[in-house]
Amino acid sequence: MDNRPVRRKRSGAVRHLLLAAAFLACSSQLLVVDANSWWSLALTPIQRPEMYIIGAQPLCSQLSGLSQGQRKLCQLYQDHMIYIGDGAKTGIKECQYQFRQRRWNCSTVDNTSVFGRVMQIGSRETAFTYAISAAGVVNAISRACREGELSTCGCSRAARPRDLPRDWLWGGCGDNVHYGYRFAREFVDAREREKNYPRGSAEHARTLMNLQNNEAGRQAAYNLANVACKCHGVSGSCSLKTCWLQLADFRSVGEFLKEKYDSAAAMRIGRKGKLELVDKRFNTPTPDDLVYIDTSPDYCLRNETTGSLGTLGRLCNKTSEGMDGCELMCCGRGYDQFKTYKHERCHCKFHWCCYVKCKRCTTLVDQFVCK
Ligand SMILES: *[C@@H]1O[C@H](CO)[C@@H](O)[C@H](O)[C@H]1NC(C)=O
Ligand SMILES: *[C@@H]1O[C@H](CO)[C@@H](O)[C@H](O)[C@H]1NC(C)=O
Ligand SMILES: *[C@@H]1O[C@H](CO)[C@@H](O)[C@H](O)[C@H]1NC(C)=O
Ligand SMILES: *[C@@H]1O[C@H](CO)[C@@H](O)[C@H](O)[C@H]1NC(C)=O
Repeated sequence: MDNRPVRRKRSGAVRHLLLAAAFLACSSQLLVVDANSWWSLALTPIQRPEMYIIGAQPLCSQLSGLSQGQRKLCQLYQDHMIYIGDGAKTGIKECQYQFRQRRWNCSTVDNTSVFGRVMQIGSRETAFTYAISAAGVVNAISRACREGELSTCGCSRAARPRDLPRDWLWGGCGDNVHYGYRFAREFVDAREREKNYPRGSAEHARTLMNLQNNEAGRQAAYNLANVACKCHGVSGSCSLKTCWLQLADFRSVGEFLKEKYDSAAAMRIGRKGKLELVDKRFNTPTPDDLVYIDTSPDYCLRNETTGSLGTLGRLCNKTSEGMDGCELMCCGRGYDQFKTYKHERCHCKFHWCCYVKCKRCTTLVDQFVCK
């Protein structure tokens, strides 16, 4: 435990300075575009709450991008903030992995709006981004509970699965996905719930879209969590097994949501102020499906209005016919060819006993870059 003494005494002048700084931090946020900017927690290093001076509440006023409700939650659950930041970071990283070979590659643009203006468009890509970051928060909070990092939760108390063999023990310390799910719902959705747009307006449609995709992301993380077990017993005999609830590897959450992205449903706002399918022949989306309301912008060319970065300068694969192929990636503009050196481990030999020794090989490879 960290038992460093907390400095409580501050001179009046310093306190005024702190208040002024907090005020400035607040007013500068008015400039931030209304992107879902709690994502910026992924980019700001968040210090542990015990490092802060008690009483001045600087943590929550220093964090940019929180909505009013999120700021309140921050004050109540200061120790959670670092994990929300981690969760957003995990989500963004996974998004970039899943879309590494696509025209839109989930790149972040700056500190405050994180993904930039493209998120103002209620596209399929935006839907995925909301879902994966909400899933990231469920993941990070559930794990933090298990690791005893949070004051308001601990190990999972999920009931023993009915199909678990009778002689296996249940109750190792599991990831608390129940808590993670609920906290992520409070925190991530707060921003949407405090908006009060007229029913049936375009902004209302977007709010409904965000809520649906946030939920789909949380459900993915929650539902993919599964039972993990460990063997005990003399010399690995596995005569005894202990089992607990464990989060899925985040890669599989990413893959699951990528499939949801591929099958996302196009929606529009209906007369009753609810989202409805554009094409009634498709199945009505369930709460774990992704939905979108706008067609995607053109990701081929850089466009300041839509926030598209364009594919100029992107690496492509000359022989692939998929999205990573030069034809599709470069949108028919053609590509430049470069030669670069690639360094690899090679000629690896196993030495008795027990190590592997490799050589370093350098090969000249062709690389293709979109014009
Ligand atoms: C945020 O932006 C500032 C100035 O634009 C830059 O100096 C800083 O490195 C950025 N921080 C991160 C974490 O990207
Ligand atoms: C940018 O996108 C907007 C909206 O799709 C479009 O109207 C405009 O012509 C585009 N601008 C350029 C320079 O391509
Ligand atoms: C993603 O695309 C942007 C814009 O084309 C590019 O600057 C960036 O390097 C790309 N990122 C990766 C990881 O390929
Ligand atoms: C390019 O695409 C081909 C066909 O899909 C694949 O076999 C190859 O490994 C790819 N090359 C690179 C460098 O990714």
